[in-house]
Formats: sequence, structure tokens, C-alpha cells
Amino acid sequence: MTLSTDHDGQAVTLDLTGETSPYPFFEYMRHTDPVWHGRLGDTSQLPEELRPSDEWVLFGYDDVFQAFRDDRIFTSAAYDKTIGLVMGHTILAMGGKEHHDHRNLVAKAFRATALERWEPSVIGPVCDQLVDEIKSDGHADLVKAVTFEFPTRIISTLLGLPREDLDLFRRLSLGLISIQSDIVAGLNAATELHDYFLKQVEQRRRKITDDIIGDLVGAEIEGEKLTDEAIIAFLRLLLPAGLETTYRSSGNLLFLLLTHPEQLAMVYQDRSLIPTAIEEGLRFETPLTTVTRTTTQEVEIGGKTIPPDAQIGMCMGSANRDESRWTDPNRFDIRRPRQAHIAFAGGIHMCLGMHLARLETRVMLDSLFDRVTDLVFVPDDGTGEESKIVGLTFRSPNKLPVTFNPAA
Ligand code: HEM
Repeated sequence: MTLSTDHDGQAVTLDLTGETSPYPFFEYMRHTDPVWHGRLGDTSQLPEELRPSDEWVLFGYDDVFQAFRDDRIFTSAAYDKTIGLVMGHTILAMGGKEHHDHRNLVAKAFRATALERWEPSVIGPVCDQLVDEIKSDGHADLVKAVTFEFPTRIISTLLGLPREDLDLFRRLSLGLISIQSDIVAGLNAATELHDYFLKQVEQRRRKITDDIIGDLVGAEIEGEKLTDEAIIAFLRLLLPAGLETTYRSSGNLLFLLLTHPEQLAMVYQDRSLIPTAIEEGLRFETPLTTVTRTTTQEVEIGGKTIPPDAQIGMCMGSANRDESRWTDPNRFDIRRPRQAHIAFAGGIHMCLGMHLARLETRVMLDSLFDRVTDLVFVPDDGTGEESKIVGLTFRSPNKLPVTFNPAA
């Protein structure tokens, strides 16, 4: 399925299945109609009442940045009517004081300094063990073996879930994040996760534990404890927010390094380049390309007037390739001068887990590079299916077949 738009007689096409890259379309829109009265997807399957009547997309960096900062006019309250149906009322849909209070409660656990203690005790051992499991095989699909698995194991440990529940947690997480393609499986997983997390919360109401669920059970806003439902909503949000994005961004970065072997060699040799490689990977292949906001009043942006109640696609994928901010933006280059990207959004909803995502990706790459050498991408793995980055809203490689040798 494709979307075509016509500017000055030239038709530009966007593949809505995500099989081909959306970046040429984004680039064209940045040049011709950066505040576009249109939609980046197919809403025909949505029930009538959920179908937005007026839709716009922002493609340029400055416009996306400005709209994220102006959260009174560009609100995220409409998430209650979409993902809220599955997750409950989460901080993602909150605004003003409610958002401030709830975010403050959970933010402590995700501060860079709070995470430091988890590197030697949880994150390092999880990553080392995962690579140890495959290092003598000589080959692997890194998506299956590593990129999905490491954030799942790390978040389940940080939440304090019992080790024996890992398979169940993995199955339910996969079910929940596949909701876009299989709504029934997604809803079933959401219900099972609700009951599962409720038991975990009840255990901690009886005896508090030193983990993220324990922190949430102990937390208070103006003397009031968080309700079970508020805690469960936050925990369920962590799966799409924390697992899906990280497994996709780390897969994208590995794909980009493997397909740019000279840059892979640089990072192998000089590990202090890993943080810059992570940022360039997030800029160049933004794992979540677009999020939405709704206007609360008429607003002028990029020289256009958008009416109230319009749904706005904030195209971070396009903003991250804006040529007014980056030279030669369609080139993946870990050596380019540092310039902040917008893959973690901005304003009050800027990603709460960005320090965790950066930390776990850095540690995962270090574990991999320490344990295997001669890492080579195998584009033709004999299955007939090309290995590439796919997707429109969420993007990541379908697979990452590689060969390697165990390090001495
Ligand atoms: C590379 C990985 C990640 C990317 C690209 C990413 C991206 C984002 C983006 C774009 C938003 C804003 C969504 C919106 O406003 O509509 C967001 C919010 C959020 N993210 Fe992340 N995320 C990542 C990793 C994580 C991790 C590891 C966690 C936690 C375990 C996490 C937890 C959250 C939460 C709780 C929010 C909501 C914050 C709020 O509403 O105040 N994210 N993330």
C-alpha cells in the first residue's frame, strides 16, 4: 500500500508497508511542504470515532522541536483514546501538574546517577552472558540472539521479576508490542500483564523490595500512595517504551556499523567512540520515526495556520535528517560534529529512559566486541530474504545474520 502526493506535477510515493525507506519521501516533504496537511499512515482500519478528522505532519527540525516544547498547545492527551485503551492512563497522556507529579516519582529510578549501580550488578552480567551463549557458534542472527533479548532481560531484572518468569514476561512483552499487527493477541497480552503485575504489586504492598516496582509501591504524591492501576499503567508502558525502542535502535546501530565496516573497525579499536556511534545511529535511523500530538487551539507554525483539535504527526525521523542542521544528513558518519538529535522527543515528555537506553546499548556493544572478533555481516544467508531496515513508524532490521570468531 502506498501514499502518493503531488507537488508541482511531481508525484512522490511513500510505501506505507515500510518495505522501502521513507526517507526520500521525508526529504521531499521537507523541501516542498514541511508543515503538511496530510497523514503518514493508513487509518482506514480504525473505528470511525478514533479516526482524526484533520491531520497534519511536521517534517522540519525547528518546527518539531518547537511543537514538543509548546505542550499547552500541542498536547498528548489523545493517547488516552489510543494506546490508553491497552495501557491505561499513563504519563505519556498526562499534562501540567499531573504529569509533573507522576514523572517526578518515577524519574528518580531512571536518572543517569541512579543507573550507575546497575551497570556492574545487572547490565554487564546480562550482556556478557548473552554473548557467551553464542560466541562459540561462529554465526548468529543478532536480532534474535542479542538485540531483543538484552533489554528484556535487563528490564525484567530491574523491575525485580523472578528469574523463572522470564519466558512468561518475554512472551507477554512480545504479545503487547505486536498489537499493531495482531490486535487480539495484543489485548490478551495486556490483560495477562495486568494480572501478572497486580500480583507483583500486591506482594510488595505486603513486603517492600529494592527494585523499580518496590520504588513505585513506596512512592507518594502529596501524602497519597500511587494506586495499583497507576502503577500497572506505568509498568505496561515500559514495555513498548523501553523494550521495543531499545531493541530496534540497537539493531539499527549494529546494521549501520556492519554495513560500514570501516566505522565498525574504528569503534572496535577505540571504544570511547561507542557513545557517538549510538547518537549517530539514533539520528540516522530513528527507531520511532513519528509520534502524535493534538492542538488545543489555533496555532501558527512554519508559516501555516493549524486549527484546534488537529492531529499532528511529529516526524522525528525527518527532523533528524534536516539539512539545515546537519551537513550531508543522508550519510551515516560517526565522526560528524556533535549536534543534538530529536530521537528521544523533547519538552515535558522527552524520553524518561534515554540514559538507560544509552547505557545498556553501550554495555551490550562492549560485551560483544570483547567476546567476538572478525564480525562480518552476511547479506545473503541463503533464505532468499534480504536483510534490511524496515518499517514506517517503528524501524529496525528484520534480521542481522553475521559470522564471527570467539575472541582469544
Ligand atoms: C533508544 C531507545 C528509546 C527511544 C528512541 C525512545 C523514544 C521515546 C520517545 C520519542 C518518547 C516520547 C513519546 C511521546 O512524547 O509521544 C519517549 C517517552 C518515554 N520513554 Fe522512551 N525511548 C527509548 C528508550 C526508553 C527506555 C529504555 C525506557 C524505560 C525503560 C523508556 C521510557 C519512556 C517513558 C516512560 C516515556 C514517557 C515519558 C513521559 O511521558 O513523560 N524509553 N521515549
